[in-house]
Amino acid sequence: MTNESGLKIHGVSHAFDGQRVVDSVDLGVGAGELVCLVGPSGCGKTTLLRLAAGLARLQHGTIEIGGSLAATPERTVPPEVRGVGLVFQDYALFPHLDVAGNVAFGLRGLNATERAQRIETVLAQVNMLEYRSMWPHQLSGGQQQRIALARALAPRPRVMLLDEPFSGLDTRLRAQIRDDTLHVLKESGVATLMVTHDAEEAMFMADRIAVMNRGRIEQEGKPTEVYGRPASAFVARFFGEVNELRGIVRNRAVVTPFGPVAANGHTEAATVQVVIRPEGLKLSPVTPARDGGEGPACIAKVMAARLLGRSSWIHLDIGGPSGHGPAGETSHAQHVHARVPGSFLPNEGDMLAVHLDPNQAFIFALPETP
Ligand SMILES: Nc1ncnc2c1ncn2[C@@H]1O[C@H](COP(=O)(O)OP(=O)(O)OP(=O)(O)O)[C@@H](O)[C@H]1O
Ligand SMILES: [Mg+2]
Repeated sequence: MTNESGLKIHGVSHAFDGQRVVDSVDLGVGAGELVCLVGPSGCGKTTLLRLAAGLARLQHGTIEIGGSLAATPERTVPPEVRGVGLVFQDYALFPHLDVAGNVAFGLRGLNATERAQRIETVLAQVNMLEYRSMWPHQLSGGQQQRIALARALAPRPRVMLLDEPFSGLDTRLRAQIRDDTLHVLKESGVATLMVTHDAEEAMFMADRIAVMNRGRIEQEGKPTEVYGRPASAFVARFFGEVNELRGIVRNRAVVTPFGPVAANGHTEAATVQVVIRPEGLKLSPVTPARDGGEGPACIAKVMAARLLGRSSWIHLDIGGPSGHGPAGETSHAQHVHARVPGSFLPNEGDMLAVHLDPNQAFIFALPETP
């Protein structure tokens, strides 16, 4: 990876009171790249960011910034000279400094003219130039967040570390600010590591996504890779509710109520977990099978249908008394969810044919059958 000018986290582990909360993490962020670190509450995201920033002492591993060592367990470069810009959840502007004063805070070694120019440039970048003489308490949450971003960018850091920077904002403002932030970060060419626990936000912002679980990076890759080829059921679940079934591998495929799914690499006769995204279930009217043609893999009964806006959410019962799966593989009613683009609202009790998009179905070994 060509990230000599960015951030390189290598073999980093961290424990609090003997409890390991960051476990052998390797993660690189190249210049101009935006990597989102995602994962559930308590999985170690903030701890990792604090270690990268130099706000906590490194116990194991190394942190490199701009191609030189910023921290080892023996030696550490203090946060203020690491060349990192920090934006945390609560913005934390200095209340006793006006906007320009806040942005000027990290600008050492510049003369008055250069400093004024730099303040003007970054305030213009975040569209806040006309607020330069205001005080933090006179700004909205979104405006404070922009100033926090400008303050962090002003000293031209090599690395930006953002911890849930949009979580204090309401939905609409959040969409606007994250769009602006993405453009500002991309224009500045800085290496950015951003923490969020919102999968959609990560998909929106990230060049690459690192999914963290219990202190470890469970998968890391482009959004299309982690979404399209999740390495575990945990990663698949992280990007939205999924249908989870079990099945048995026979002839290199797992028979599901919706048809077979290729079981690449899984042992014959093993019981495996099948994870199907709701958008992987395609619904159509039930039509009689044509001569020689294949009938629908599965017929399901609509339990409820709801419009969510851009898509519809359909609750289906399969394999119950009024629905049926193939070859008696499903003997009891099973509830699944399908997501259909646009408005699709069948009536309760309607019968629909269900086809499976195999690209939206994933097979994983069960934890108890390694
Ligand atoms: N200073 C501390 N002393 C002891 N334990 C801590 C300390 N800071 C964090 N922890 C513990 O380390 C674990 C990881 O915490 P961390 O703040 O890194 O999680 P996180 O992924 O950022 O979670 P969230 O999404 O809720 O912000 C948690 O179990 C937390 O309780
Ligand atoms: Mg956190």
